[in-house]
Amino acid sequence: MSDICIRLAQLSDRDQLVRMREALWPKSSADEHTLELALILEGKAPVTMPLIILVAEASDRALAGFLEIDLRSHADGCNPSRPVGYIEGWYVAENHRHMGIGRKLLAVAEDWARSQGCVEMASDTWVDNEVSQRVHKALGYEVVDRCVHYRKTL
Ligand SMILES: CC(C)(COP(=O)(O)OP(=O)(O)OC[C@H]1O[C@@H](n2cnc3c(N)ncnc32)[C@H](O)[C@@H]1OP(=O)(O)O)[C@@H](O)C(=O)NCCC(=O)NCCS
Repeated sequence: MSDICIRLAQLSDRDQLVRMREALWPKSSADEHTLELALILEGKAPVTMPLIILVAEASDRALAGFLEIDLRSHADGCNPSRPVGYIEGWYVAENHRHMGIGRKLLAVAEDWARSQGCVEMASDTWVDNEVSQRVHKALGYEVVDRCVHYRKTL
């Protein structure tokens, strides 16, 4: 764990990031992740608010996890008068979990949000992702809302 370094992602991290994004967001294809990452890492993503990707790099240069954070103009439960730091994606490879890497990624993400003038952070997760809910709670995040989504065929 002491050998883990948290740093900003670079274009050369793209292939490893694609594999981790596929594990976190399997509904998008590898090609879609590749394209999206290229835009983000080259600073060409069509976003209006700052967005960064942090990676956790092990001593052998392999990536053990990542966290994508941006600013949102508002988030449930947060003061709407100023932007908040928002955890868009957070993943640690299975063989590196429960070793403090997620915590370390989040601490750097929170420092970045502070440097952007934020005084609040926000996040979301699926209702059946109990591990994520426990980790959020362990790291000081409180539940502010629960959503029910509906659909109807027209
Ligand atoms: C969520 C995730 C990033 C956490 O990464 P991690 O490196 O394992 O987390 P850490 O080891 O830094 O643990 C942080 C805290 O959460 C707690 N925690 C970690 N895994 C836990 C688990 N399975 N059950 C309960 N608590 C857990 C730890 O005890 C720790 O608290 P502590 O330091 O007070 O003991 C990782 O589990 C993951 O990638 N999960 C799959 C993807 C996912 O669900 N991402 C979140 C979507 S929003």
